[in-house]
Amino acid sequence: MQQNNKIQRPQFTPDKNVSGEAKKLRRMIDEAQRIVAFTGAGISAESGIPTYRGAGGMWSKYDPEKFASIDYFRKDPTYYWRFFKECRHDLIAKAEPTLSHYALAELENRGKLNTIVTQNIDGLHYLAGSERVLELHGNTNRFYCLGCSKQFNLNQAWEMVQTQMPVICDDCGGIIRADVVMFGEMLPERTITEAEQETNSCDLMIVIGSSLVVYPAASLPYQAKSAGAKLAIINLDPTPLDSLADLVIRHPAANLMAQAVWLEQE
Ligand code: APR
Repeated sequence: MQQNNKIQRPQFTPDKNVSGEAKKLRRMIDEAQRIVAFTGAGISAESGIPTYRGAGGMWSKYDPEKFASIDYFRKDPTYYWRFFKECRHDLIAKAEPTLSHYALAELENRGKLNTIVTQNIDGLHYLAGSERVLELHGNTNRFYCLGCSKQFNLNQAWEMVQTQMPVICDDCGGIIRADVVMFGEMLPERTITEAEQETNSCDLMIVIGSSLVVYPAASLPYQAKSAGAKLAIINLDPTPLDSLADLVIRHPAANLMAQAVWLEQE
């Protein structure tokens, strides 16, 4: 899909049910100079990665108090590595960017979108061709040793987990972990500071696929609105910030974003 850093317009059949909403969003995009996109698990749902809290979310199968908690990881790292082996790896390794990911990469190419601030750890924004991505919760394609900080990628972690439980460093014997922010950990300081700066200087924030219930990330759309930006929320379920938004769209994001970005508006 991606050629010489230009995003080719993906093939898609416009869903007539969302063309009106897409036109409203397109008008907001055309009027904006500095857009920030704020994305959550919902933007990747259409690539097969289940969300956390929506219908059929990942948490109905695995206990986040265990696989996503640093305290539990330190107590019993095998729970995370079993979750990785049985579920997480395949979801991430097989996932392809959705039309929404490509649409945001296109807006960056057009010079309309300054930054994507994402809560997602799947790396799909980079895969779609976006370059300015702030990953508030890290990236599960990256791993490192708790003992010596040696780095590993997804393929290396997958190879090691076939014969090791939990996975340990071949240099120092330390436990290896994903480079993601677990519950009980702070967000990377530099990343959140940069995200706040971009939020305060944008004139449009587009939220795509987030329940907006996990802080401090969820404070950013509120901060954008308080700083005078317009706010568009594309989310299947209601969010606590809907009443603040200038536009709320309750449709799956992919086809809508593709229409808003690629369909010439009459
Ligand atoms: N299009 C638009 N929205 C969608 C789609 C879709 N195709 N599919 C699902 N959604 C919406 C759901 O309605 C849901 O409200 O995406 C939202 C996803 O919400 P969550 O599962 O709570 O994900 P997120 O908001 O990213 O969670 C934030 O919580 O568990 C922690 O660290 C984890 O980053 C995550 C954070």
